[in-house]
Amino acid sequence: MAKVILLSGSPNKIGNTMDVLKECKKSIENENVEAEIISLSGKNIRGCTGCRKCKEIKKCIIDDGLNDILFKVKEAEGFIIGAPVYFGTPRGDLMNAIQRIGMVSYGTDRFLSWKVGGPVAIGRRGGLSTTYQEMLMFYFINEMIVPGSSYWNIVFGKAPGDALKDTEGIESTTRFASNVAKLINKIN
Ligand SMILES: Cc1cc2nc3c(=O)[nH]c(=O)nc-3n(C[C@H](O)[C@H](O)[C@H](O)COP(=O)(O)O)c2cc1C
Repeated sequence: MAKVILLSGSPNKIGNTMDVLKECKKSIENENVEAEIISLSGKNIRGCTGCRKCKEIKKCIIDDGLNDILFKVKEAEGFIIGAPVYFGTPRGDLMNAIQRIGMVSYGTDRFLSWKVGGPVAIGRRGGLSTTYQEMLMFYFINEMIVPGSSYWNIVFGKAPGDALKDTEGIESTTRFASNVAKLINKIN
């Protein structure tokens, strides 16, 4: 069965990013595609040092748990990223993670190519569009396929539970997740 990995970039195991990704997971499963949420909560993912050792060893040389995520992404057909907005941008940890995943893909067999997915930005008020756009740079340089939806993938929420109250945000974002699964089924 095809599979989508949903990566939460929030430090909070319970919170808005997780709530949004859980809704996306249900939409993906409704299309008969498997879905697994992975959280960066409790992890301390370091930044890419540009050492290029990944070319030789086919994984990242930094031993902080990123490779476990990387191999799950490599095996999956889809990759959705939930990005909480911090100071108008995606959270630093999350950028560390995706830059290292991108570097290993780039330096080896370009395993990210043709994976289907896209970003979802979650924030209180400002910087959601810029966060969404910044995350898209990762998708497009890695030859990934990003389906659209009825709106851009942004959901408003501050305190845990708020995001689920943004019905328009949840509707368009779960529609996007469902489109990811539909596209994977078509490609397969
Ligand atoms: C350090 C920090 C910076 C933040 N910066 C922004 C921001 O620039 N714009 C915004 O809309 N929300 C901002 N927020 C609010 C979070 O994006 C929002 O609370 C989000 O729902 C958190 O997701 P989580 O519950 O999954 O952790 C910030 C929160 C923190 C802790």
